[in-house]
Amino acid sequence: MTLAEKINDQIRDIADFPKAGIIFKDITPVLSHPKLITETVDWFVEKAKNDGIDVIVGVESRGFLFGMMIAEKLGVPFVPVRKEGKLPYETIKYSYDLEYGSATMEIHKDAIKKGQNVMIHDDLLATGGTALAAAKLVKELGGKVGNFSFLIELGFLEGKKKLAKENEAVYSIVT
Ligand code: PRP
Ligand code: MG
Repeated sequence: MTLAEKINDQIRDIADFPKAGIIFKDITPVLSHPKLITETVDWFVEKAKNDGIDVIVGVESRGFLFGMMIAEKLGVPFVPVRKEGKLPYETIKYSYDLEYGSATMEIHKDAIKKGQNVMIHDDLLATGGTALAAAKLVKELGGKVGNFSFLIELGFLEGKKKLAKENEAVYSIVT
């Protein structure tokens, strides 16, 4: 079985969560399989090495799970991007539109050094708004976005197109 098939097997679809009409992609079953975790982390580490990544940015909250492991394995810093009001030190913010209303993401203002080459990592790419917000924050601090990486990409939402405008590679294990 390929890694994509193994991950696909462990993704649980939950209908009408968190609200009616949404089919939630639950990755928690993946976390019950240590060998699959290792294989998954290695897949991302390979992409990071090829693109000369020197910082992993993980997006709250599910981007923290593999993001931190990728950083540890690669031997580079991990930086959290969090929802508004969660980070304790001084931050910069980026707000973006959702279907209804808007969301704001934050990063510590000293988290990225100028010229650092960053992987933006999250569990899932849907519309791309969240990942794009993380990229904007990294760039505002003077970092470069080397690539984006996800376990799952929902192809029909065309998030990749939104990210492609940034001209960086977008990697996902399962589409
Ligand atoms: C989900 C998912 C991504 C984001 C993708 O997070 O984990 O972070 O949405 O959506 P987008 O591409 O349309 O922006 P969620 O907001 O559910 O928060 P969580 O990870 O903290 O559970
Ligand atoms: Mg998320």
